[in-house]
Amino acid sequence: MTASPTYGQLTNQGASTNIAWHHASVDRAARADQRGHRSAILWFTGLSGAGKSTLANAVNQALFERGLATYVLDGDNVRHGLCKDLGFSDADREENIRRIGEVAKLFLDSGVIVLTAFVSPFRADRDKARALVDDGDFIEVFCSADLGVCEERDTKGLYAKARAGEIKEFTGISSPYEAPESPELSVDTGAAALDACVEQVVNALIERGVIPAQS
Ligand code: ADX
Repeated sequence: MTASPTYGQLTNQGASTNIAWHHASVDRAARADQRGHRSAILWFTGLSGAGKSTLANAVNQALFERGLATYVLDGDNVRHGLCKDLGFSDADREENIRRIGEVAKLFLDSGVIVLTAFVSPFRADRDKARALVDDGDFIEVFCSADLGVCEERDTKGLYAKARAGEIKEFTGISSPYEAPESPELSVDTGAAALDACVEQVVNALIERGVIPAQS
């Protein structure tokens, strides 16, 4: 798929006009009060095969078992629907992450802890998603398994195809990955056991006052 720079032109205007913000009477604070926990965006980033989806799902399970409101937005799944018109050019990845940032912001407002699992290879795009919300609401979780480990695992067989030239613009092979410089959390998904990684993320949520410590 080619780059898709024309989204804003669908209305012929380039942007929505004559719209106002409608304030809801049930706000985020009321939801946090009712549910007993705050919401947050847990933004997992890392190479394909680094374990983002596995970790996000395991954290989701752990939070669910504590009775917390959570949801996982996963790259492979979202690309079946909301983002199915997007490929893997730099521009398409930028648009993919822009949409996810906006959707994650809605989840934040709805009082849900949202876990996003996207390669999100570009620092600038992740920073734009971060800038949509207040300080403390965006928790970047770097899944640090390196290229050697991910390629060795090659769970989906995509690295072999990328090396053979059958997939173009593959992150880590023929498209760059810009690791976070100061993520809130760095999780060693290349070596640490899944349980330990889950504990690290859950503890970070407790330390930041997003969720209560278990009684
Ligand atoms: S992102 O770069 O726009 O954030 P996203 O997380 O949605 O990517 O999708 C990545 C997933 O799509 C990978 O885990 C992999 O399964 C699949 N994929 C297919 N082609 C590519 C590619 N060229 N680069 C990276 N991932 C790809």
